[in-house]
Amino acid sequence: MKILVTGGLGFIGSHTVVELQDKGFEVVIIDDCSNSSEKVLEGITSITGKMPLFEKIDLKEKSKVEAFFKKYQDIEGVIHFAASKAVGESVEKPLLYYENNIGTLVYLLKELSKKNTSNFIFSSSCTVYGQADKMPISETAPVKPAESPYGNTKQMGEEIIRDTCAVTQGLNAIALRYFNPMGAHPSGHIGELPIGVPQNLVPFITQTGVGLREQLSVFGDDYPTEDGTCIRDYIYVVDLAKAHVQALQRLLEGKNEENYEVFNLGTGKGSSVLEVIHSFERVSGKKLNYKIVDRRPGDVVSAYADTKKANEVLGWKAEYTLDEAMKSAWEWEQKIRA
Ligand code: UD1
Repeated sequence: MKILVTGGLGFIGSHTVVELQDKGFEVVIIDDCSNSSEKVLEGITSITGKMPLFEKIDLKEKSKVEAFFKKYQDIEGVIHFAASKAVGESVEKPLLYYENNIGTLVYLLKELSKKNTSNFIFSSSCTVYGQADKMPISETAPVKPAESPYGNTKQMGEEIIRDTCAVTQGLNAIALRYFNPMGAHPSGHIGELPIGVPQNLVPFITQTGVGLREQLSVFGDDYPTEDGTCIRDYIYVVDLAKAHVQALQRLLEGKNEENYEVFNLGTGKGSSVLEVIHSFERVSGKKLNYKIVDRRPGDVVSAYADTKKANEVLGWKAEYTLDEAMKSAWEWEQKIRA
């Protein structure tokens, strides 16, 4: 069975390709390599023993998207990761984000609407909840006005899919709202490859640990939390990848209750920035150089998932602990800098 994975050379995409291949799916990757490298194909192949098909396509080129679906008429499911994800950059360049994240989604859905049946998995984010009123955050928590164009593309993306599903016979979709993905494949063949200075906490920590960055800035320790730093739900990327396969199988087997469904993907456990730092110190045996600085604008105090729906309806549960995920991130960082 052939599955298209857009952005399949990226961080979460590549780990999902591995899990799909392990389950016997044939994978076709579309990636424009704007934030990834063709070398990731080798990493995937080293793990699974099978090279996925690869088409270097920029999804903004509508005619190329049409030509792709003419060439691969036997695609039975699409997992759509390809998108830009830097919050700050999205504030600077909103149109780039709307074109990259929304324009391409529309082209894909147009092609899928032409088919009798199609199954679509969408990369969404817990950012759609903003600062939720209640912890843990369940799927019924209200979607809050987006803090950035990036966040808005995830909200709008979900709405576009929902509206399209409502009128398109045979189109089934699941939006997966990720909390904070981290870590690398235990094989050491694939992992996160941030370009430039990492914006996210975990790659910044491991790069500091390895000496690439001098010091981590902790954005605020005066939040209303136990140690004053923000709380997030850090989820191991391999666990996250497995959830995608589970969601896809739910659609392929027709087990979905509605043609558009939403699931949170997190561990259900919140960790503060300081707890993440301590996890790094435990698994690496190194002291991390960090200092407390001002809050980062736009950060929410706390966000962790209510995992009940994913556990009970999707039949998926995160298995790895923060320390295990951190260990994989640290091993990966040391490997790519060696
Ligand atoms: C961020 C985005 C979110 C996006 C997600 C994608 C913001 C405000 N949010 O989530 O919309 O979906 O990335 O990966 O950008 N921290 C530090 N020092 C650092 C980096 C981070 O203290 O150098 C802290 C942050 O304040 C936060 C936590 O670490 O409390 C996690 O930060 P990050 O990894 O950027 O994730 P989010 O902010 O949760």
